[in-house]
Amino acid sequence: MTYLTRFLTGTAISLALALPAAAAEYRIAVGDGAGGTQEALGKAFIAALEKESGGEMTGKLFLNGQLGDEQDTVTAAATGTLDFSILAINNITPFSPSVGALTLPYVILSQDDAEKITQGKIGQQMIDRTIEDAGVRIIGWAYSGFRVLSNSKKPVSSVEDLQGLVIRVPKNEIMIETYKSWGINPTPMAWGETFAALQQKVVDGQDNPYMTIYSMKFDEVQKYITNLRYIFSIEPLIVSEALFEGLSEEEQQHILAAGEAATQASAEFLRSEETKIRDELVSRGMEITDPADDEKEFMELATTNVWPKFYEQIGGKEALNQVLTALDRPAI
Ligand code: MLT
Repeated sequence: MTYLTRFLTGTAISLALALPAAAAEYRIAVGDGAGGTQEALGKAFIAALEKESGGEMTGKLFLNGQLGDEQDTVTAAATGTLDFSILAINNITPFSPSVGALTLPYVILSQDDAEKITQGKIGQQMIDRTIEDAGVRIIGWAYSGFRVLSNSKKPVSSVEDLQGLVIRVPKNEIMIETYKSWGINPTPMAWGETFAALQQKVVDGQDNPYMTIYSMKFDEVQKYITNLRYIFSIEPLIVSEALFEGLSEEEQQHILAAGEAATQASAEFLRSEETKIRDELVSRGMEITDPADDEKEFMELATTNVWPKFYEQIGGKEALNQVLTALDRPAI
């Protein structure tokens, strides 16, 4: 436990003592809008928490970044001014570089991979490191699907087609380097500013899963989608470690059990909804293109150039090999 966490734990205990005996209602920040995987995870978590605690604990979702931009919510939860947040893993990486192994391009290649890693030994290691590094505890995972590339200008199927487009990426070094490996200099930008930047044509495109494009209404400002599979988006539910440590063991168990139930619900949600959402985006006028040559060029450039740059940050080449081996893929 860091000094900060110890200090904040004390603060959380005093705050908890001040709570009325009625149900405790926690504030849950959600980066995306309604209809996506983040909201689905949040709703499932609240329902399970109420059930587990016999109605003594509940939560309230604040969608569309109302409680702050995704990266800012990590700091807010760490300092105890926010209870929970649901956000993309790429927005936790700057605070806990070891989770970067899950953001490296072409490591997670399916929903099954994502579930296996997050719910297994490696997921637990990442939970432990995030508590140490960032002062937040991951208690559930939303699975959102592959981050596909959208833009307003033209169909893109090859690395060559990408040249000249201005693409927004999160403030995440791995993603910035990935676009550089494809020959363009992307524009790092906070999530909360992305819709306006697309609308005002400050940038031409961005990447995020179908579910997110839908929940953020990006179809109103984007036309073309490239069906890339470079990152499978995993979106953790985090709780302030200070808050968590100030709870009784029983309350902690309610939170952990509700997080697990919500994780399973999220996996089901993606399985049942993603195709419908993709079809809905097409019916709203979006055009989907598959990458040429089964994405080989994108994949080779990214894995060859980007992986080695981040070995040190993610805890050594060994850390990547651990993930690959757990996924029954050859170590490098
Ligand atoms: C981002 O692009 O910053 C995030 O992936 C957005 C999200 O949380 O959906």
